[in-house]
Amino acid sequence: MHILGIETSCDETGIAVINGKTREIIAESVKSQIDAHQVFGGVVPEIAARAHIDVIDGMIAHVMREAKLEFKDLDGIAATCGPGLIGGVMVGMMAGKAIALAHQKPFIAVNHLEAHILTPRLLQDVPFPYLVLLVSGGHTQILVAKSLSDYELWGTTLDDACGEAFDKCAKLLRLPFPGGPHLEKVAAKCEDAAKALQNVPLPQPMAGKPNCDFSFSGLKNAVRLATQKPHLAPELAYSFQHTASEILADRCAQAIKRFRTIYPDVAHPAFVVSGGVAANKTIRARLEGLMQENGFLFFAPPLKYCGDNGVMIAWAGYERLAAGLVDGLDAKARPRWPLEEMKQSS
Ligand code: KG4
Ligand code: ZN
Repeated sequence: MHILGIETSCDETGIAVINGKTREIIAESVKSQIDAHQVFGGVVPEIAARAHIDVIDGMIAHVMREAKLEFKDLDGIAATCGPGLIGGVMVGMMAGKAIALAHQKPFIAVNHLEAHILTPRLLQDVPFPYLVLLVSGGHTQILVAKSLSDYELWGTTLDDACGEAFDKCAKLLRLPFPGGPHLEKVAAKCEDAAKALQNVPLPQPMAGKPNCDFSFSGLKNAVRLATQKPHLAPELAYSFQHTASEILADRCAQAIKRFRTIYPDVAHPAFVVSGGVAANKTIRARLEGLMQENGFLFFAPPLKYCGDNGVMIAWAGYERLAAGLVDGLDAKARPRWPLEEMKQSS
């Protein structure tokens, strides 16, 4: 079953064709707009939308050529319809709808967050229900994926998202935007971990609280104060990354307890970490260790599929199409589209 996936909700244009049934990625392309936004220190929505328009047609043609397929060979067109920057979402959604209309193909309106959550299922068997940590630039959530379209939110951030905290900390260290990957590289230059934690002690907001919520603003503030004193960038970056991964692990430990109580019959529960921040190797390793200690199977997308891409949209589209969840050409573009509202909208 051949699905074209289109992603345009932020600053990456992602296009892919997959065969969902055989779990084959046939052709894909991702184009980042980072250069266009870097001078502004963040993503500028208007510039993002225009940049998607500039490249989307050419990228779709290129990916279809690489896949050696024509539009008539497709079984469905999936496009991100939210949540995200609405100008960009509309560009991808309208391109998808136009192809679906012209070639009389099913259109699948994909929730970007659901796509992140389902991505590991493309490459491995991850059975429902599973525990999810979604960590991106806009979201930090713990939830249970019960089935397609059925997500229960257990915790979210009370202030900044984890990726946002990485980006802000990186900015304080004068690293380029988006800072997460740059900060990881600087932290890797730290030669003495124990000394870094001693020299730059940082707080872990919410530690030990018996819920699954997050807070990163106190951490960000502490980093700001630390940068005002003499410091070594690798030590500060290391301490921040270590603290962020401890915060995530502490909140996930609460979720593990809750999952065991609510689903005592699931013998080998699965845990998925997904979203841009899931590309961080320290965080992946910390969470993998935590899951092993607690008898959970650990799943994370390959590094290249942690950030935004067309493959994850095509896969979510395939899962929905296979379950008979097709949308009309009147599907809305949604700047906000909480996962908990998926059930009503499907
Ligand atoms: O999922 P994503 O590509 O876009 C959103 O939907 O938000 O996530 C982007 C976020 C950015 O904040 C970026 O700095 C962060 O993910 N990120 C990382 C790493 N790679 C990307 N944060 C920490 N370490 C990384 N290696
Ligand atoms: Zn994303």
